[in-house]
Amino acid sequence: MKRLKDLNTDELNELRQNLQKQYDAYKNQKLSLNMARGKPCPEQLDLSMGMLDLLTSTSDLTDANGTDIRNYGGLDGIPEAKAFFAQMMDISPEEIMVGGNASLSMMYDTVSAAMLHGVPDSTVPWSKLPSVKFLCPSPGYDRHFAICERQNIEMITVDMTDVGPDMDQVEKLVREDAAIKGIWCVPKYSNPTGITYSDEVVDRLARMETKASDFRIFWDNAYIVHHLTDRPDHLKNIMDACKAAGHPDRVFLFSSTSKVTFPGGGVAVMASSVNNLNFLKQKFSVQTIGPDKFNQLRHVRFLKDMEHLKAHMKKHAAILKPKFDTVIKILESELGGGQIASWSRPNGGYFISLNTLDGCAKEVVQMAKEVGVTLTPAGATFPYGKDPRDRNIRIAPSFPPLSELTTAIKILCLCIQIVSIEKRLSQSVAQ
Ligand SMILES: Cc1ncc(COP(=O)(O)O)c(C=O)c1O
Repeated sequence: MKRLKDLNTDELNELRQNLQKQYDAYKNQKLSLNMARGKPCPEQLDLSMGMLDLLTSTSDLTDANGTDIRNYGGLDGIPEAKAFFAQMMDISPEEIMVGGNASLSMMYDTVSAAMLHGVPDSTVPWSKLPSVKFLCPSPGYDRHFAICERQNIEMITVDMTDVGPDMDQVEKLVREDAAIKGIWCVPKYSNPTGITYSDEVVDRLARMETKASDFRIFWDNAYIVHHLTDRPDHLKNIMDACKAAGHPDRVFLFSSTSKVTFPGGGVAVMASSVNNLNFLKQKFSVQTIGPDKFNQLRHVRFLKDMEHLKAHMKKHAAILKPKFDTVIKILESELGGGQIASWSRPNGGYFISLNTLDGCAKEVVQMAKEVGVTLTPAGATFPYGKDPRDRNIRIAPSFPPLSELTTAIKILCLCIQIVSIEKRLSQSVAQ
């Protein structure tokens, strides 16, 4: 498209009218298209249906230790599940705790435990302090921010770069403020920007000097094996980096099979130093006698080992990649060269992050909604739902069929063009 700044007011008005006609035509179609959340589509869910037939009344229902999985026990997971996730996360099995179906619950419970009891190096529970703050690299994951809001933790926005959080900002903040107890990180194929943290960022996070002696990194590696191409991004092992830097207790890692098998019935996992895990296990043992061991066992029997996991994830990529490619192709053909939007081209994960001109995202999302296209609310990718530049829109291409996705992105492009022209026209009136 032509750059708006090269068009005069008449040309802008004419283009605006043309685009409005196309937009109105969509209005009459009474569409209902949803790209709000990163949900796997039914074809992806079908890939794991075989798992449901693996445990029957005649199956061997003992775990690797010979324990009957039908009974209580095994707070930190069955041994074969710990061994499987240890390989997936490149961490030793003693540093692994396998949980229920949601890593988000494990994150919530870990933050709650720290608020109620502190962590091993705390002098008091975090909630007894006058203020507790977390760093939130943004755009980021709205549900991390919701955990902070629910627990009365003040959020400090830190800029995201193409290689991770702006480490100059992070290092300065944690060095000076003892109330900063944590940082949220989605280090691989980040939600929503799709970037992977560089080795340097991982090392700086592991090494940095923190005023709070009980500072923790919440390392949500949700997209650890979710590559879209044969050239996956490389992520340095933060656990090793923390140990090497003399901070073995600094990090809590999380992941799950929600987008490997089923979001409605996956297995979640967390990892940390034995010191941290022993502390947490004592707290968690009051909440549960043990997780769903049936689900853990059938997951291990289904996914088997890293080779099978890799092959399984390739099947997901074969379904997802054409959807990501379609979105990027339409964005390029409709908006390319116009200098009114920029977008990510991720190598994995579940999202494409798009930035409009400053001050346009809310209106774009609202306009799209009025013709039946639901996007993640503008602002959701920032703490307190407030995008300071009102420009970030998260696109989740996984769930809609290709034909619906195509229509939805074309509408999104129309809305971006209309809102940008209006902005340009109002600026030229003001000048
Ligand atoms: C970064 C991130 N973490 C966690 C989750 C949710 O994980 P789970 O299903 O294991 O709770 C999501 C889901 O979209 C996510 O994007």
